[in-house]
Amino acid sequence: MKEIRFDGRVAVVTGAGNGLGRSHALFLASRGAKVVVNDLGGTVAGTGGSRSVADAVVNEIKVAGGQAVANYDSVATEEGGRNIIKTALDAFGTVDILINNAGTVRDKTLAKMDLADFRALIDVHLMGAVYCSHAAWPTMRDKNFGRIVMTSSAAGLYGNHGHTNYGAAKMSLIGFMNALKEEGRKHNITVHAIAPMALTRMTEAITSPKIAQLLKPEFVTAAVAWFCAPENEETGHIIEAGAGYYAKVEVRESQGVLFGTDTVPTPEQIRDRYGEICDMSQAAPYANTSELMRRVFRLVAPK
Ligand code: NAI
Repeated sequence: MKEIRFDGRVAVVTGAGNGLGRSHALFLASRGAKVVVNDLGGTVAGTGGSRSVADAVVNEIKVAGGQAVANYDSVATEEGGRNIIKTALDAFGTVDILINNAGTVRDKTLAKMDLADFRALIDVHLMGAVYCSHAAWPTMRDKNFGRIVMTSSAAGLYGNHGHTNYGAAKMSLIGFMNALKEEGRKHNITVHAIAPMALTRMTEAITSPKIAQLLKPEFVTAAVAWFCAPENEETGHIIEAGAGYYAKVEVRESQGVLFGTDTVPTPEQIRDRYGEICDMSQAAPYANTSELMRRVFRLVAPK
């Protein structure tokens, strides 16, 4: 069986000082990648900062014989995103892999939420991924190679009480990925999303001890590393991963009901056929918006 290797590849992992990011960075380095370990070293809520966590992971990689440099910028500013990618270009001359992993939580129901805590999560999760991807894109496009991973969450895919800010931020990454994968197609840049389940400082307070021991970050890293593999040409996948469980998540659309294009149906007609509209037994995913539009336009306006 041919081993997946990252020799000669340069990987940027954001939020790599702890938890999942640390695991991704250590693994990629162990398979030959030169790694930028980014972390601003703050609390789970993103306050404060310290260089020590990024330095510790760089040190671990070097002790194991790998190559790494630290970066301490916040992903949540445009300048920070630029500097993170610049660190890769200055230290290693290029960037091949970007794992947008840095993240924070500020859990509150919407009724009790200070909207600054909503914006802060959009800044870190969505804009952090946007800034870093935007900064890495020209290099990836010019070299006709790139592997980008978004870190989403079941909290966004399915919803979770007290997670309007976090869920919105995490689901917005799927919209970002869906469009970016189209822009990357002709440049051999793939874009995927991982929805992890792992025991980290972010989740330790809400995980039962029985389950906690099963949720090793390394389980998630295995799927992330496959996303980043040079030989993996798939794009736009969402994979839920944790504790040895791996599953594809898709947005699907039902076959739909055609009422006809001559008259607008009444709400009562919608009500009466709502079961059919919502019948997901033959639902299908679409590769992109054009594919959906082609199907719908063929239905409503056959030649
Ligand atoms: P963690 O708290 O252990 O690690 C997150 C790291 O990101 C920290 O080291 C933190 O300092 C860094 N960070 C935070 N804001 C930053 C910023 N602005 N710039 C640079 N670095 C920053 O948490 P964990 O669990 O490893 O989280 C990693 C990612 O996985 C996050 O995006 C999180 O939302 C996501 N996630 C984790 C799940 C889990 O089960 N652990 C579940 C679903 C999603």
